[in-house]
Amino acid sequence: MNAGELLSLCKRRGFIWPSFEIYGGVAGMYDFGPLGSALKDNIVAVWRDVYKRGEGFVEIDSPTVNPEAVFRASGHMDEFSDYVVHCKECREPFRADHLVSDLHANPDTLDAAALKGLMVEHSVCCPDCQCELGSVEEFNLMFKTSIGPGSNRAGYLRPETAQGIFVNFPHLYRYNREKLPLGVIQHGRGYRNEISPRQGMIRLREFNMMEVELFVDPDDKSWPRFPAVAEETLRLVPEDGAERELSLTQALEGGVIANEVLAYFIWLTKTLLERMGVDGGRLRFRQHLKDEMAHYAMDCWDAEVLLSYGWTEVVGIADRGCWDLSQHAAWSNEEMSHFKRYDEPREVERVALKAKYRELGPLFKGEAKEVARLIEERGPEDVSGGVLKVEKDGAELEIPETLFETVTVREKLAGERVMPHVIEPSHGLDRIFYTVLEHAYRREDDYTVLALRPEMAPIKAGVFPLMARDGLEEKAKEVFALLTAEGIEAFYDESGSIGKRYARMDEVGTPWCVTVDYETLEEERGLKGTVTVRDRDSSEQRRVAISDLPVTLKSLLKGADFAKI
Ligand code: ATP
Ligand code: GLY
Repeated sequence: MNAGELLSLCKRRGFIWPSFEIYGGVAGMYDFGPLGSALKDNIVAVWRDVYKRGEGFVEIDSPTVNPEAVFRASGHMDEFSDYVVHCKECREPFRADHLVSDLHANPDTLDAAALKGLMVEHSVCCPDCQCELGSVEEFNLMFKTSIGPGSNRAGYLRPETAQGIFVNFPHLYRYNREKLPLGVIQHGRGYRNEISPRQGMIRLREFNMMEVELFVDPDDKSWPRFPAVAEETLRLVPEDGAERELSLTQALEGGVIANEVLAYFIWLTKTLLERMGVDGGRLRFRQHLKDEMAHYAMDCWDAEVLLSYGWTEVVGIADRGCWDLSQHAAWSNEEMSHFKRYDEPREVERVALKAKYRELGPLFKGEAKEVARLIEERGPEDVSGGVLKVEKDGAELEIPETLFETVTVREKLAGERVMPHVIEPSHGLDRIFYTVLEHAYRREDDYTVLALRPEMAPIKAGVFPLMARDGLEEKAKEVFALLTAEGIEAFYDESGSIGKRYARMDEVGTPWCVTVDYETLEEERGLKGTVTVRDRDSSEQRRVAISDLPVTLKSLLKGADFAKI
């Protein structure tokens, strides 16, 4: 199939529309129509179900406009850029690494000089007008704004939701009773001023992210649920580029995946995507090369799906180490570490400074105790040239080594402070949305079916009167109202032939159609009439009592076999 066919269906049937179309549109922006909004909500609901209910993670919601301080600390101000090159003639901008993608195995590992060198060597010119290209420049992808009147306070639209979680770590840590692991999720808009968005929903300037930040003990990357999935398999393309199918155990033992937590969340991503309707046969996990990784990552695996655009990243699963918390701790002076309590207090020896109280007394009188405390807070490493410098009442005080001694002390420690590490599965909702549609798209003899998984379908049941007369339409409207009241998304349609109505529902992925026919009225006693229920995938039909319909549809939604209803 080609993406154009599907995108035109999406537009015609109200899944997505190019934004601001009446004003000529803006590249890299889409609106979700009524069916698209519903599908988007269903994707979020599955993600939330897996992480919140399934894994017990907590959810937060933080602002999309952030002050500059956040991105200075996170490194995005300095590092979050791509290389742009403009055509000298038509002035069109292009992402430099995309222009050389056929000339290098991993062009996003190249710097400006290497990209320009490759372009010159291979005479790469403007793809639009074939004219000469200019110099390669670094371009920061964040959208800048100002917070409040005047331009004093710079703000940026967040390029990832993750920072909202990191800056809230002290609150979240207390909320979690100062324990690790701590899993936090957030979904919402992310903004990147992409240089040249040309691939439909794959590269947007405003998009939707579903991010998960799992804070773990840096010295313990085991995971309690790992044994239950240890023999499950994954299609992996590790750093060496050789694709292979490995069980999680094999991947860990062979050093392909670094630790259990990462392995577990790669597996969880696979199950999550398949539950949403991504075809497992068109899904693989590719490890980033060391020089391809984002500035914050120690290790990163992309969930890639095969689309008409080629292999495309939909989820990035990174081990961010302690990068973000250390950075925010340093820039904000807030405590971001975890107090790791030992099972048993540990006795340790430490070399310390001990104040000579007898000498301090006559010199400092009433303040001697305070000076002793200042000395004993410091260590031998702070002594230089026989002098210890301490700060007292805002002034520097030089204390000669005649006033203290170096001693070895034994003490019991209840624990130590460590900086948590972060494992981050970051899901691009729009790319998943498009994948779910493309992998569900079937077209044969001019007939289109979206074989969406029922859980994902925007409409669960089409409700039709066989004919729009003889009281069939009133009864069908009652059935529609009954389903709606039961929380089942239904769509009432009485226009055109029944075949056309089925076709319209098949085209938007509705799994079942309910038809009120003459038998419904004949057999009717109150709501005890029957209707036909048609299954989208098999085209089979069953007769079901209207009063049983909500329960029947709910059991089908939970996976019951249509042939057995
Ligand atoms: P790419 O290499 O394709 O630019 P990325 O490596 O920058 O993607 P991440 O920074 O890992 O992507 O972002 C996490 C997820 O957010 C991605 O897996 C993707 O699904 C989604 N995403 C990133 N950029 C965009 C975008 N411009 N439009 C739509 N989704 C995006
Ligand atoms: N939070 C992952 C990313 O934006 O790259």
